[in-house]
Amino acid sequence: MTQKTKFHFRCLKCNYIIKDFKEWFEHNQSCPVCKHKFVFTEYEKPSSDVKALIDDKNYTKHDLWRYFDFLPLNDRANIISSEEGAVPVDKWDFLKDFAKKQYNVDIDVFAFRNDLNKGTGTFKDPAGSVAASVLKECGITEYCIASTGNIANAYAHYLAKAGISISVFIPQDALMANEAEVNSYAQRIYRVKGDYAAAKKIAAEYNGKYNILLSGGNIDPMRVEAKKTMVFEWMRLMDKMPTVYIQALSGGTGPIAIDKAYHDLKGTGLLGELPRFLMIQPDQCAPMTQGYRKSKANGFPEGWLNDYPIIESPITAVPTLATGNPGSYPIIADLVRKSNGEMLEFDEKAIVDVARLIAYETHVSVGPAACIAIGGFFEALHHGKLNNGDTVLINVGEGVRRAPKLMEELIYTTQHISSIDEVKPFNRSDYRAKLWEPFLEYDKIAIEKTR
Ligand SMILES: Cc1ncc(COP(=O)(O)O)c(C=O)c1O
Ligand SMILES: [Zn+2]
Repeated sequence: MTQKTKFHFRCLKCNYIIKDFKEWFEHNQSCPVCKHKFVFTEYEKPSSDVKALIDDKNYTKHDLWRYFDFLPLNDRANIISSEEGAVPVDKWDFLKDFAKKQYNVDIDVFAFRNDLNKGTGTFKDPAGSVAASVLKECGITEYCIASTGNIANAYAHYLAKAGISISVFIPQDALMANEAEVNSYAQRIYRVKGDYAAAKKIAAEYNGKYNILLSGGNIDPMRVEAKKTMVFEWMRLMDKMPTVYIQALSGGTGPIAIDKAYHDLKGTGLLGELPRFLMIQPDQCAPMTQGYRKSKANGFPEGWLNDYPIIESPITAVPTLATGNPGSYPIIADLVRKSNGEMLEFDEKAIVDVARLIAYETHVSVGPAACIAIGGFFEALHHGKLNNGDTVLINVGEGVRRAPKLMEELIYTTQHISSIDEVKPFNRSDYRAKLWEPFLEYDKIAIEKTR
């Protein structure tokens, strides 16, 4: 007897219903009829039931499995979790005050603290948890993935917890700390001589040669469904929903997942309009932003979604965001436009300024990708992309722990001494003015290509 499933997938091109993961995996994670790879997961329960889960006071765990009814897993016994996906939303009034004082815009600013995920401390942990649980339920013992770093770590951790082996293909420039952590779980790393696109190519060949299941990338339903719960969490934790969502952009699972949640809850009266997606790329690897800027300047001409540059072997200070060949551009660009959002870039040279300021004001040490998102907030203000009344939510995707180089660059108070004569009492607030300086003179940092 086949097990009853509580969900199925609908092909977004031909509407064919794929009944379960077995059928999905058997057809190489594509629609058996039209081969399209983008599907939406649909559930037996009406989506309005999510409200009861959000309000459930008896759910005391700190993870995303509160939303089990709306995650693609049939048996709770297969859940693999390390407390992820239930992270705080902090109010960052210092940025609200800055916006008012410097730009005379009245907004509220919140930080979505994905650095506090307990699996591996990034935005990628929810996907790791759902993927490991689903793969366990499907009896899969070996898996593979190409990754710029953080997703590799999350999958390595959660799959190890599920007793599943994973081969991870990372590009040449991936951070060593990422490599080390994957290794520490006794998962296999292949450091590919080349960029992320090259890593993806070999991973696909590995999948073909040994028939080992390969992660489906940014539109993989396991990832989309996991990250979709972000929206449910905002409903649970925030008094009002964001009107602007700021995220560092590599492949773009975030906006795809947020859009999926809004799609599911349409007609329930639980949600309003999509937030405006402000997607931020590091200036040394910003193919999506460049493509979008050009198409916008030309009035989004016919075929614009397929017109974007490819940056081969990008050299960027943020290897986790080094997607030089963004195959997901047509999906992401479409969502950004649909949401009245924007794609921006942030000057990588100012990453350390962001990290120091945030650590001073909030006592949180943020990582390089998070600095790009937060930098995007300043960039957005500078270019007039935030309006009176906006509720801005910045996705703080990672802490600094996997970027020891950035951590070292945070050093600025040290004084080298040899005797007590060189030592005197100090007041930490004396550093404040200096830390704000780059942002008060933002013209020096701003990417002026953006109008
Ligand atoms: C911390 C962090 N923020 C943002 C991103 C970008 O995520 P996406 O692939 O959804 O664009 C990544 C990607 O690795 C990341 O690690
Ligand atoms: Zn189809």
